[in-house]
Amino acid sequence: MRHPPEQVKIGLMGLGTVGSGVMRLLRDRGEELARRNGFTLSVQKILVRDPSKPRQVPVDRALLTTNPDDILDDPEIELVVEVMGAVEPTKSYVLRALGAKKSVVTANKEIMADHGEEVFAAAERNGVDIFFEGSVGGGIPVLRPLKESLAGNRIFRVTGIINGTTNYILTKMTQEGQTFQQALAEATRLGYAEPDPTADVEGYDAARKLAILSSIAYQARVQSRNVRTEGITRLTPTDIEYGKRRGWSLKLLAESSEHGGRVDAWVAPVFIDRNHPLAKVDDVLNAILVEGEGIGETMFYGRGAGSLPTGSAVLGDIIQAARNRRREVSFTTCTCFRDVTVGGPEESPARFYLRIEVEKRSGLPAEVVRSLERWGIGLERMDYRDLPPSRAEVVLVTQEAPESRARTAIEALGRAPWLVSMGMPIRVEAEEERAPAGESASGEKLERRVLAAGGR
Ligand SMILES: NC(=O)c1ccc[n+]([C@@H]2O[C@H](COP(=O)([O-])OP(=O)(O)OC[C@H]3O[C@@H](n4cnc5c(N)ncnc54)[C@H](OP(=O)(O)O)[C@@H]3O)[C@@H](O)[C@H]2O)c1
Repeated sequence: MRHPPEQVKIGLMGLGTVGSGVMRLLRDRGEELARRNGFTLSVQKILVRDPSKPRQVPVDRALLTTNPDDILDDPEIELVVEVMGAVEPTKSYVLRALGAKKSVVTANKEIMADHGEEVFAAAERNGVDIFFEGSVGGGIPVLRPLKESLAGNRIFRVTGIINGTTNYILTKMTQEGQTFQQALAEATRLGYAEPDPTADVEGYDAARKLAILSSIAYQARVQSRNVRTEGITRLTPTDIEYGKRRGWSLKLLAESSEHGGRVDAWVAPVFIDRNHPLAKVDDVLNAILVEGEGIGETMFYGRGAGSLPTGSAVLGDIIQAARNRRREVSFTTCTCFRDVTVGGPEESPARFYLRIEVEKRSGLPAEVVRSLERWGIGLERMDYRDLPPSRAEVVLVTQEAPESRARTAIEALGRAPWLVSMGMPIRVEAEEERAPAGESASGEKLERRVLAAGGR
């Protein structure tokens, strides 16, 4: 006679977007999972702030509690699933759970990006697991594949579109010519942007995810404060349109690369070629391109957020952690053992697109060229257009030069007495695809001069 499957008792912290996804998947898949694994996953308590609030998924109200001790001090609960968000009090709860020899599954990028060392040490000390697949790329399985399936590779670059909100905004600006503010308003209306969108639009959310990805990819400790971060708030549809005419696509990329004991890590808007594998990743979708010695390029693509996609990643971790408990093993070892320097890509070669407005005067294009040349920065192209009555717009693309020097040159240009305004310098990682002769990005006639470095 078969015994009924044993139970793995779970304490769930948080029943919002992700917590509801976990509960829904457990409800729909629970029986099948029990048959497959030989144990049932049983949620014993759910920590929330407000038990009277309507919930996105039907739950037994008797499970709800506002007291974390009901989970953390219950010796029968073996597994804590943290989907509350924020750093405190959450981190204290996670550390208490690990200290009580409970395994922890979390989707919390803030904790794992910036306090990973402390959390890993607690898990190792107590011989339990800490899993966090949901913290990067929502439903896309990328952390465990990177850590386990690709362990035979030396990974040298990771490039991702890992923030759905900004990808949605840039898609709207690209496809419909919306301004940043219009696209953000639409993203907010559709629930793709938080009421306070700062972490998304300034690139901080992507920086945290990149820190987690990079720590795993290079076995080194990368924290979000080491990631040089630029957001998308200063981008305009005019910039995007100019790029489109050259065959480029504008994306907020999070990229890190490792060479000679140094990791460069940055988040910034970048013009990429329209044939680049990441160029067609639109709307709220995410993708992560991994480059390694053995695999060449491999790309992970899918839903980077949302209730069921993130719930799927969290449930995958729950099952792995529960299996480990049954086998009395733990997989958690911190792999961040390499000592590397982490910083921005200051010395790596970069080209920049820049749009400036200047006072119209004779000899001006040459003055722009000279200003940049003082820093050894040449121009790949320059488009000049009159803005009657007394101004002109200059759009330029620099030749490749060390990034820090190019930025210094652009800052110096920004102090020129004839400069009226300067847009955001945007990295260009695409080849030139020439626009029809004599047309500007907006299709107007322009006085076009392509000035090679030193040319007049
Ligand atoms: N949303 C996504 O698509 C997504 C994707 C990937 C990762 N994540 C990460 O997953 C985590 C959860 O995100 P979410 O979108 O599900 O958040 P959410 O919708 O705001 O839900 C948070 C839940 O935690 C509870 N909670 C928050 N602070 C609490 C406290 N101090 N004490 C007790 N309960 C507390 C809330 O209770 P009440 O319901 O009573 O207010 C709510 O149920 C975050 O770390 C987030 O970064 C989210």
